[in-house]
Amino acid sequence: MTTSSSERGVSLGMPELPAPAYPDDVRERLERDAREIIARYPDSRSALLPLLHLVQSEEGHVTRTGMRFCADVLELTTAEVTAVATFYTMYRRKPSGDYQVGVCTNTLCAVMGGDAIFAELQEHLGVGNGETTDDGKVTLEHIECNAACDFAPVVMVNWEFFDNQTPASAKRMVDDLRAGRPVEPTRGAPLCTFKETARILAGFPDERPGAVEASGGAGPASLVGLRLARGETAPARVVHPRDGAPQDRDVHEPSPSEHLSSHDAPQDTSASDPAHPAGPTAEEGE
Ligand code: FES
Repeated sequence: MTTSSSERGVSLGMPELPAPAYPDDVRERLERDAREIIARYPDSRSALLPLLHLVQSEEGHVTRTGMRFCADVLELTTAEVTAVATFYTMYRRKPSGDYQVGVCTNTLCAVMGGDAIFAELQEHLGVGNGETTDDGKVTLEHIECNAACDFAPVVMVNWEFFDNQTPASAKRMVDDLRAGRPVEPTRGAPLCTFKETARILAGFPDERPGAVEASGGAGPASLVGLRLARGETAPARVVHPRDGAPQDRDVHEPSPSEHLSSHDAPQDTSASDPAHPAGPTAEEGE
């Protein structure tokens, strides 16, 4: 922490970002947290991702002040920090709501209702993609696949899962969030604000009562994709998770001979070239 990011940025011919400093007490607290994070890594620069979450937990988004702080404590240039902060979508670059409501509109969720959910939420909340409601509570956005396709359509609030959503359940959920009524994710830890989530992602323990106990698995698989691949009719949509358990789990379990995935059973493959049973040699490949 001996050389300022300003000095290093200038030495590389890069202009320094104008950024107000944190108040002394905030800077002192963040430095204490940063030292704890940096100590987890053999190379301090490896701590950049959690440090960006840390500064995001302070202000709700990654500000220039936050990036300058990361650069200072890691002895990086602000250009290096900016390059990382602008690459990952989990780092926000502008102020937004307490609850980031992300609607998955990737292929499977989209066809299962994600597009309809997003369209109805836009109208219901009166905001577009990446915009925040006037009360500062909800930021709506498209999100990419979160590997929960089996529970499509999926909505994530501050990265907690809300599975098997419908336009009606999603609208009810954002209404509850805005009104301060309790909202429970389908699985995982209890919901918290975006700033609190950012601090947990920085690597600090979730100390809320019951948070660890509440973290659970994904529940039974629907195998909807498998059924669709077979030309079977998709099951009816499930009810909203807070209204009861999923209702469409009368799933036919395929026998081993019926598995379609190459991960489920060995598949026949073409025979090796008898002239090159082990593939081309290094010389042949050159
Ligand atoms: S497509 Fe939505 S979670 Fe994968």
